[in-house]
Amino acid sequence: MIINEAQQKLLETTKKNATNEQFIWLSGYFYGLANGNTGPVQTDIATKELPNVTILYASQTGNAAAVAQKLHDQLANNSVPVTLTNMLDYRPKNLKKETHLIIVASTYGDGEAPDEALSFYKTIMGDKAPNLCHLSYSIFSLGDSTYDLFCQTGIEFDERFETLGANRLLERVDADIDYDETATQWINAITSVISDSESPSETNKTTGNAAIQNWSENQPFSGEVLNIIDLTDDLSDKNVWHLEIGIDESGIHYLPGDIIALLPENDTELVHQLIETTKLSADESVLIKDEKYSLKDALVTKLDITSLNRKLVESYAELTTLTPIDLAEIDIEQLIESGDLLDLIQAKPSPLSAQGLVDLLRPLRSRQYSIASSQSMVDDEVHVTVKQVAYKSLKRERKGVCSNWLAKLTEGDSVPLYIKTNNSFKLPTDNTAKIIMVGAGTGIAPFRSFLQERDDKGLMGNTWLFFGEQHFKSDFLYQTEWQKHVKTGVLEKISLAFSRDQEEKIYVQNRIVEQAETLFEWLENGASIYVCGDRNHMAKDVHNAFIEVITEQGQKSTEEAEEYLQELVTKRRYQRDIY
Ligand SMILES: Cc1cc2nc3c(=O)[nH]c(=O)nc-3n(C[C@H](O)[C@H](O)[C@H](O)COP(=O)(O)OP(=O)(O)OC[C@H]3O[C@@H](n4cnc5c(N)ncnc54)[C@H](O)[C@@H]3O)c2cc1C
Ligand SMILES: Cc1cc2nc3c(=O)[nH]c(=O)nc-3n(C[C@H](O)[C@H](O)[C@H](O)COP(=O)(O)O)c2cc1C
Repeated sequence: MIINEAQQKLLETTKKNATNEQFIWLSGYFYGLANGNTGPVQTDIATKELPNVTILYASQTGNAAAVAQKLHDQLANNSVPVTLTNMLDYRPKNLKKETHLIIVASTYGDGEAPDEALSFYKTIMGDKAPNLCHLSYSIFSLGDSTYDLFCQTGIEFDERFETLGANRLLERVDADIDYDETATQWINAITSVISDSESPSETNKTTGNAAIQNWSENQPFSGEVLNIIDLTDDLSDKNVWHLEIGIDESGIHYLPGDIIALLPENDTELVHQLIETTKLSADESVLIKDEKYSLKDALVTKLDITSLNRKLVESYAELTTLTPIDLAEIDIEQLIESGDLLDLIQAKPSPLSAQGLVDLLRPLRSRQYSIASSQSMVDDEVHVTVKQVAYKSLKRERKGVCSNWLAKLTEGDSVPLYIKTNNSFKLPTDNTAKIIMVGAGTGIAPFRSFLQERDDKGLMGNTWLFFGEQHFKSDFLYQTEWQKHVKTGVLEKISLAFSRDQEEKIYVQNRIVEQAETLFEWLENGASIYVCGDRNHMAKDVHNAFIEVITEQGQKSTEEAEEYLQELVTKRRYQRDIY
């Protein structure tokens, strides 16, 4: 025997307690001793200086933040000195001191940067951007390839950093909506480049309790429909309803401002039409990620059959050997903009196998909804406000997938769901701070949760709600609840804009301008602004209305008013949840 029993015990104990890194160090140490060194020998791993890494993330609904957090944890587990910072809190002048910078950012609007990135983006893209020759960087860009400007924010940062002289640690990665696997590979690659270690993240391991609470797109919790209440009446042009979902025993905790993701099913009638058009059999077996489904089940529950993009059209053409002449006969741009898979197949029918069809399609994804309840008030429930999406295009009636699937649910039905923490839409930590809430249509939802929360805490006043819809009589969502809050004092002020109850259109932005003097006083007294609802029109008009309030009341130029609002963004006093 080379070692005695006592030494063997010591080795066993060491084996149980030491980390991988310590094993490597110890092997170097003993090697050194054997070769005549009396002091500890520093192995490569012990002496290797790992760089200081800064990770900046810019996220609207938490995906980029979650990827950045995972990268942070994995680097930290590999002993890399690493700092994780929201881009909103980062001062670009610190770039001079950085050596290794990682950016994780999503894209919003039509190729726009998320709100958290706007200030940093402006500095980096501007004339006064610093020289970055000393900097190594890498970018992980999140987006959705159905948008024309896929991952635009990441692309723009990447190009700009290169122009400013920085060196890429790794090529930029553009990740689509099913970004999990891509993110894990990228995190491993970054870890490997920075720490020369490919050890998998400790944080990737889910354990016991954490796994139960960690519901996700791939492992949703099955909630139960408890109650459905119509919020619009028959005279309304819209169909909006309130849905209460039971989350008993899910371990889910959410806060006002958080978002719920619901995993819908496709319309069975549309699936039926698709199967008929392709002349395939509904019962034929297909494989998705090694799991077997019937074609019908795969199309109903697993695959996105309603959104078209260029890649899908090209893959369909390739699979069915359509020629460029065949393709030239259809208006692809129009099809992508307004059509779906059925339109494509009807426009250019061509034989394809069931598996071929399935392999063309992206996974059916969850839809997000602002949570409309406060958990402190409703316990094991989560409430949402849903508007049915239905419209006509290319001569066919279309139905939004999730809203129409939800419309068919009845009490007792199951709803697969998970929660997305939304740190970009949170009540002030100071309970006495004033809040101004602006919501049009379903944009009212999170303010129901804000006021329930304040009601539960017994907080009175300091709240001002702007709500807009078409008609007082048919569209005043949650009317009696706001009236009750006004009566009890939970809601200090309410300003309503019913656009079609009079000849001239009146919107929330008009009400904001009308109330300029008091609103500016509120802002000067520390009020926070929250805006929720339509991104394309309402959010821009409301922004401009606040600019008008600030220029007029604060006697500022438009540029100074923009700076005033940007300052509020930085202080988290101007938060938006817009879609
Ligand atoms: C952070 C966040 C919070 C949200 N909160 C809420 C909420 O509280 N309540 C709520 O109801 N929704 C909310 N939404 C929107 C919601 O996620 C869904 O987008 C919405 O319910 C439609 O989903 P769907 O599956 O029914 O429609 P989809 O199948 O996704 O179809 C929607 C698509 O149809 C097209 N389309 C829609 N209308 C028309 C039209 N008139 N003409 C032409 N094309 C059209 C557009 O391309 C649109 O993207 C939120 C979204 C986000 C990102
Ligand atoms: C209203 C809205 C607009 C979006 N616009 C774009 C876009 O123009 N380009 C893109 O690539 N992705 C776009 N996306 C997709 C998001 O970037 C994607 O869902 C991403 O995972 C979100 O990450 P986050 O949660 O960190 O913000 C959009 C998503 C929403 C909800």
